Amino acid sequence: MRNRLIFQGVSILTLFLFPAFWKGPALGSEEAASDNPGTLYERLGQSEGIRLVVEDFVARGLADRAVNFTRQGTSRPWVPTPVKLARLIRHLVQFISAAAGGPEAYEGREMKAVHAGMRVTPAEFDALVRDLEASLSKFGVEIREQEELLALVETTREGIVEPQKQTS
Ligand code: HEM
Repeated sequence: MRNRLIFQGVSILTLFLFPAFWKGPALGSEEAASDNPGTLYERLGQSEGIRLVVEDFVARGLADRAVNFTRQGTSRPWVPTPVKLARLIRHLVQFISAAAGGPEAYEGREMKAVHAGMRVTPAEFDALVRDLEASLSKFGVEIREQEELLALVETTREGIVEPQKQTS
């Protein structure tokens, strides 16, 4: 009887203590994966994955009146001819790839020089960022990668958004 009671006591104690020592294999492997996640460039699917997102993003930005990508009504209207569009997409893919840690070199012009005189407002920049988020979601890019890329894009804001002249 005494032995049975001791046995029961030990069993109950084990049940309570077990969760404190148990590290599930799923949790362990998740931790291992996040220790070595690869560059953002790799996690976005390298140049091919980035190109898919950029093509969708450029089409979305061009169609978005809140962005006014073609800069109508400014001193720098931009006509998206097939040649100019192809160059924009090529340079944007290179720009994002290089910023995300990829091997491609960016062959375009410097951000401030490209956008000088376009009079881009904070609201237009925000609208374009939302278009990028929509394209990333469309292609199933995980939230973590979305946040990392958006943080990189955010670093370009200062050179692209221009102080607006007073109209009165
Ligand atoms: C509302 C915000 C923006 C507007 C209206 C805008 C507009 C434009 C336009 C019209 C061009 C073509 C210029 C030309 O070929 O002469 C251009 C080029 C470019 N933009 Fe933007 N842009 C914006 C934001 C951004 C952001 C956030 C990035 C970076 C992530 C970016 C990266 C580029 C690049 C890499 C080029 C190509 C430069 C080259 O071909 O030398 N732009 N942009």
